[in-house]
Parts: sequence; C-alpha cells; structure tokens
Amino acid sequence: MNAPSSFSLAGRTIAVTGANTGIGQGIAVAIARAGGAVIGFGRSSMDETAALVEAFGVRFTSLQCDLRDHAAAAGLLDDAWTTLGAIDGLVNNAGIIRREDAAAFTEVDWDDVMDINLKSAFFLSQAFGRRLIAENRPGRIVNIASMLSFQGGIRVVSYTASKHGILGVTRLLANEWAGKAINVNAIAPGYIVTNNTEALRADAERSASILARIPAGRWGEPEDIGDAAVFLLAPASKYMHGAVIPVDGGWLAR
Ligand SMILES: NC(=O)c1ccc[n+]([C@@H]2O[C@H](COP(=O)([O-])OP(=O)(O)OC[C@H]3O[C@@H](n4cnc5c(N)ncnc54)[C@H](OP(=O)(O)O)[C@@H]3O)[C@@H](O)[C@H]2O)c1
Repeated sequence: MNAPSSFSLAGRTIAVTGANTGIGQGIAVAIARAGGAVIGFGRSSMDETAALVEAFGVRFTSLQCDLRDHAAAAGLLDDAWTTLGAIDGLVNNAGIIRREDAAAFTEVDWDDVMDINLKSAFFLSQAFGRRLIAENRPGRIVNIASMLSFQGGIRVVSYTASKHGILGVTRLLANEWAGKAINVNAIAPGYIVTNNTEALRADAERSASILARIPAGRWGEPEDIGDAAVFLLAPASKYMHGAVIPVDGGWLAR
C-alpha cells in the first residue's frame, strides 16, 4: 500500500517567523525535507534559508517585515494567502532575549521582549486563525516556548515572563479553536546553539555549568527542533491540542 506518511507535509504551506537563522532556519529546512513549502517571515535576508529549502524541490517565499508591526505582518499573511494559496500552518519562532539583573531591568527591555516574543506571536496567530475560520479550513499553529516557560531563569525577567505567557496563549487558543480543527501546540527547546545563546556560550563558566546539567551531554542544534515541529504540523499529531513538547536533551527530566 502506498498511503502517504502521516508525517509528510507534501502539499502543505507553512509560515515560519524568524526563518533566516537559528531554530527558525532549522524548522524551515525540516518542513522542506518533509515536502512542505515554506513562507519565511522576518526582517533580515532569508537567502541562505531559501537555498536550503529550495534544494528539496519545494517553494520558499520570503516576506520581509519587522514583526513588531502587527498590522503589517497580518496584512502580509493575508496577501500571501491570496497570491500563493491557502496557508496550512504557522510557526511563531521569532524571539529575542535581554539580560540584566531584575533590580536594574528597564522598561524598554521589558517591552521589547514582550512585544516580539508574546504580542506578535498572538496577533499573527489571530490573523491566521481568522482566515482559517472564515474559510472553514483546518490549520496548525506551533509556538516556540523555552525551558523558561517552566523555570525562572536568572537575569532574563522579560524573557521568562514572555515564555511563561506563550504557554498560556497556546492553551487558550487550543481551547477556543480545537473544535474548529485548528491545533495549537508548543515546543520548548532546551539550550540550542544559535545567536540567542551566544553570550551564554561565550561565558566559559556558565557554558560549562549548563553543559554539565544536560543529560544528553551536548547543546542542541537547530535541526533537533525541526522534526518536532514537523510532527506538530503533520497529520500524525491531529489529536494534539494545547500540548508542549520539550526538546531539551533531558534538561527537564534532571
Ligand atoms: N537558542 C536557544 O537555546 C533557545 C531556547 C529556547 C527557546 N528559544 C527560542 O527560539 C526562538 C528562536 O531563537 P533562536 O535561538 O533561533 O535565536 P536567533 O538565532 O537569535 O533567532 C531569532 C529570530 O527571531 C528574529 N526576530 C527577532 N526580532 C524580530 C523582529 N522584530 N522582527 C522579525 N524577526 C525578528 C530574528 O531575526 P534577525 O536575525 O533579523 O534578528 C531571528 O530570525 C526564539 O523564540 C527563542 O526564544 C531559543
């Protein structure tokens, strides 16, 4: 029998925010490997990701925008839907971190992080969900959470707040939209080698203490996250709503 794999994304189009680098790029490549077309949302050139995705013989479309402009991002999503056809999934991956002692933390560092990590993820999900509901189509949303969705962390208060918040938003949207065949779930990456963790890895003491606590004995790579996203975007996970999958080398089990 030649039934398509329930892990295949063939014929599907998935939007990924922050697709130019790091985890977003790893997810884009994994989607392409599973046969899906990718729409990258971001503010930097996505040429490198485009080449990696197109090598699998699928389409990559780049939509340039600063995701803090929620109306512009929603407008781009709507235009892409009209010109390229229906979008089947959205991965809210773009995010930033600011490090400072809680006692010295500024309002700017609070607002900047919450704006991109939490507010933009919600309003892009809203734009996507509105379109799915209007057209009576099923869809998938995958939010990128963090170990700091479960733990407090240190010197990263707005990041911890945003990543706790994204789990709440994931569960709320799952509750409201599960009955409309829209699956909303999250992935919580452990410590992954990307720009986001450059400062941690540059601090020899912090880096060694993190590594010593990871049962897998290594930091994660963006590709470690990609296939978990494919699972949450594919038919295989059709009965999953409001779940969070840690992909952390065992960090939370420790
Ligand atoms: N690395 C880890 O260990 C780790 C662990 C847990 C969760 N995460 C989460 O994983 C996600 C991806 O992070 P990463 O580790 O891959 O870090 P990264 O390499 O720094 O990537 C962050 C992405 O977000 C984009 N972005 C940030 N602000 C934006 C804005 N205003 N408009 C458009 N795009 C914007 C960046 O674009 P530019 O390149 O143009 O700045 C980049 O594509 C984040 O949500 C992060 O919190 C990371």
